[in-house]
Amino acid sequence: MSRSFDYVIIGGGVAAGYAALEFGKRGVSHGELCIISDESVSFSSSSSSSHRCSSSALIDLCVFNESVAPYERPALSKAFLLPEAPARLPGFHTCVGANEERLTPNWYKEHGIELILETRVKSADVRNKKLLTSTGETITYKYLIVATGARALKLEEIGISGSDAENVCYLRDLADATKLVNTMRTCKGGNAIVIGGGYIGMECAASLVINKINVSMVFPGSYCMGRLFTPKIASYYEDVYKSKGVNFIKGTSLTSFVFNSEGKVTGANLEDGRCLPVDMVVVGIGARPNTNLFENQLVFENNGIKVNTRLQSSNTSVYAIGDVASFPVKLFGKTRRLEHVDAARKSAKHAVSAIMDPDKTSEFDYLPFFYSRVFSLSWRFYGDNVGEVVHFGDFNGTKFGAYWVDNGRVVGCFLEGGEGADYDAIAEMIRAKPVVADMGELERQGVEFAAGV
Ligand code: FDA
Repeated sequence: MSRSFDYVIIGGGVAAGYAALEFGKRGVSHGELCIISDESVSFSSSSSSSHRCSSSALIDLCVFNESVAPYERPALSKAFLLPEAPARLPGFHTCVGANEERLTPNWYKEHGIELILETRVKSADVRNKKLLTSTGETITYKYLIVATGARALKLEEIGISGSDAENVCYLRDLADATKLVNTMRTCKGGNAIVIGGGYIGMECAASLVINKINVSMVFPGSYCMGRLFTPKIASYYEDVYKSKGVNFIKGTSLTSFVFNSEGKVTGANLEDGRCLPVDMVVVGIGARPNTNLFENQLVFENNGIKVNTRLQSSNTSVYAIGDVASFPVKLFGKTRRLEHVDAARKSAKHAVSAIMDPDKTSEFDYLPFFYSRVFSLSWRFYGDNVGEVVHFGDFNGTKFGAYWVDNGRVVGCFLEGGEGADYDAIAEMIRAKPVVADMGELERQGVEFAAGV
């Protein structure tokens, strides 16, 4: 079978959902656009774990045993994991995360947008504008938007086996999140280890605690969130986590698992010689962009598809958005690939505008922005974390942060516990990259400095 569309989006995640919204706003005609997504929500755990689930867990499994339209991925490590009143679809379909319309499967139908779900694009031929899907269909396009996101890095890729064990969880998609929820339900009062100290590890550790599971976090660095946090910022969050009972095991790594006769993980061997007793494991050791389809066909940078300020790749009919796109961040004169939800939303909107209304679309001028929420804490980061760091605010209280100053200009800002107006001021200030004459003044004024720019 073969079909033809003007516009094809590969991927059914955040960027695809926001691109669909933009196509909808611009009045795409029925039959012009299709979205192909391989995401499957059928729970693939062994039946033995299902037996141990409570009946409410089984009800949840049934709810998700179907294909799924694009949704807000960040919900999976936050409200989805709560023991009480958790977020469930259709509540967090895109584009509610940006207070936009919620695109249910019916929305796509009404707008004549074809959702081809539970279908993988197996190969792409960009020269002939042709895709081959896992169902054997050939799909041709005029414009292709690549929104294939990233995948969780597997333990096997760092030489450790055990990913398939029923009590080892990852967190990238709804199937992973469903497995995690059901594994947590069987582990109340038990011991979890979280492998990795990045944001997935931190958010999952908080959720495990809220689900009354004892947590040890294991990571090789000397403090959590090492790619963004300073030691001082990390120490604040680690203290909060410790006060909730989390045990930090830093400066060492997992080397192997101990399995029981049923193949379940019961222990974790660490590099420092310790063996931790384990009822469940959550692995958050990083992600890799899904770009294989385009290797040797498009130009790459930073492991992503290199695009220009229109999100257009080295092939003029192919655009890349979200986690796979390596795009020019004009503000800093650098090409960056960002695995941030805000970048996915905004690059999606911009690419659709560039395709449908090229003459009226200016250059993508993006301010990098990332956020996280754990327990009752909430932080945001804007800009670039390079240069000298100046901390400010009350690290014994609830509102504090840091500025990054590079070549005499403020280029980055982290703030915990801010309000809307603080964050708006920070975003504007980073765009202005103000010159700083006196670092002490920056420290003294704190967030007021941003408001005064
Ligand atoms: P996304 O991963 O959303 O979608 C990719 C889609 O493509 C998937 O549906 C995938 O199955 C599909 N696909 C891949 N290959 C395919 C193929 N060959 N054929 C068909 N379909 C294919 N960010 C942030 O700023 N703050 C936060 O708090 C969080 N929190 C967070 C929590 C969790 C659990 C995750 C996993 C991620 C976050 N993020 C985040 C990151 C954010 O969610 C991420 O940057 C966006 O989802 C990226 O959107 P994309 O559409 O690019 O990829």
